[in-house]
Amino acid sequence: MAMKMNTNIFQSPKYPSFSLPAVVTTSLRSPKLFTATSSSLRSRSNKVEMKVKNSLRSPCHVQTTHSMPPHKIETFKAMESWVEDNVLVHLKPVENCWQPHDFLPDPASPDEFHDQVKELRERAKEIPDDYFVVLVGHMITEEALPTYQTCLNTLDGVRDETGASPTPWAVWIRAWTAEENRHGDLVNKYLYLSGRVDMRQVEKTIQYLIGSGMGSSTENNPYLGFIYTSFQERATFVSHGSTARLALGHGDVKLAQICGTVASDEKRHETAYTRIVEKLFEIDPDGTVIAFAEMMRRKITMPASYMYDGVDDNLFDNFSAVVQRLGVYTAADYTDIVEYLVGKWKVGKLIGLSPQGQQAQDYVCGLPKQMRRLEERAHDRAKKRPVIPFSWIYDRKA
Ligand SMILES: [Fe+2]
Ligand SMILES: [Fe+2]
Repeated sequence: MAMKMNTNIFQSPKYPSFSLPAVVTTSLRSPKLFTATSSSLRSRSNKVEMKVKNSLRSPCHVQTTHSMPPHKIETFKAMESWVEDNVLVHLKPVENCWQPHDFLPDPASPDEFHDQVKELRERAKEIPDDYFVVLVGHMITEEALPTYQTCLNTLDGVRDETGASPTPWAVWIRAWTAEENRHGDLVNKYLYLSGRVDMRQVEKTIQYLIGSGMGSSTENNPYLGFIYTSFQERATFVSHGSTARLALGHGDVKLAQICGTVASDEKRHETAYTRIVEKLFEIDPDGTVIAFAEMMRRKITMPASYMYDGVDDNLFDNFSAVVQRLGVYTAADYTDIVEYLVGKWKVGKLIGLSPQGQQAQDYVCGLPKQMRRLEERAHDRAKKRPVIPFSWIYDRKA
């Protein structure tokens, strides 16, 4: 059923090319490049190193931009009142929202604060190091939120043009960001108080990651962008749900509550983003199924895939292996999400598609079956991977 997809679907006659000149980025990751010994050389080298480390750490790749035909911008403008009625309703009024403070020791009551911190640390002692590696990775991913807001604001037809634009799309982007901002805050403060992780290394990783950006490959194209966010919100819902379950297994009900609360926000956001894509399937089934197939063909890159702690050049892969080994987010979860979205958007039932649309439909509908065959292998690979030191846990192995 699956067919070989055109690798550049948005450059096809159906989607004529509106791309800007390609941007080629080069990765200069290795600190070994900088080995000057004299002080002047060292100073120059440090400047170069700083410049490089603060710049893109993405792999060498060509980025396509503005792949959605300009006339389709009108589709998104015409959706504004629908967004107001069907998407903004998934935001919670600030006064009804939880805040990180609600789950953490209260510094306003000094005596209780010390006791509460002591209790928090006692509970954290029962939790193994590899769990903390996962929790740190999750927190770092949440803390790179400036990148995600930037990415949403690259999308044609929906971006916040002024930083305070009143359009429903812009209101959603800002309010979604504001809701998400509590996630990193909460887990960051919890980790700081737990005393279990090397906060300086963790903080460096956040700085590197925000400086590096992300590789979502959404090409300023809101079709691709909202398919990506639908997938990602569900992936984070699954991941935070898993850390909640594991915390419970380690006897830490309060940490389980923290992770579970974040997971329930992600679920609400997933509902909003999948609703947008559902509407796009209604308005433009052909364009949406082609975009869905294209996004799946590229694979959903995790938003923190450029993470680096100044030490480990394979940090994301090493972190991901621990995540897979602990069953927090696995290859099977990835397939489950693809299958869930195919079903939710009723892709198999689309009719009246162009030949290219039918090809895309066949591809995405056949994908879960194909992917199931690879799951076992991914699991075995993660299981066989030797434990390695993580700077986040003072170079202990996980
Ligand atoms: Fe989040
Ligand atoms: Fe989220």
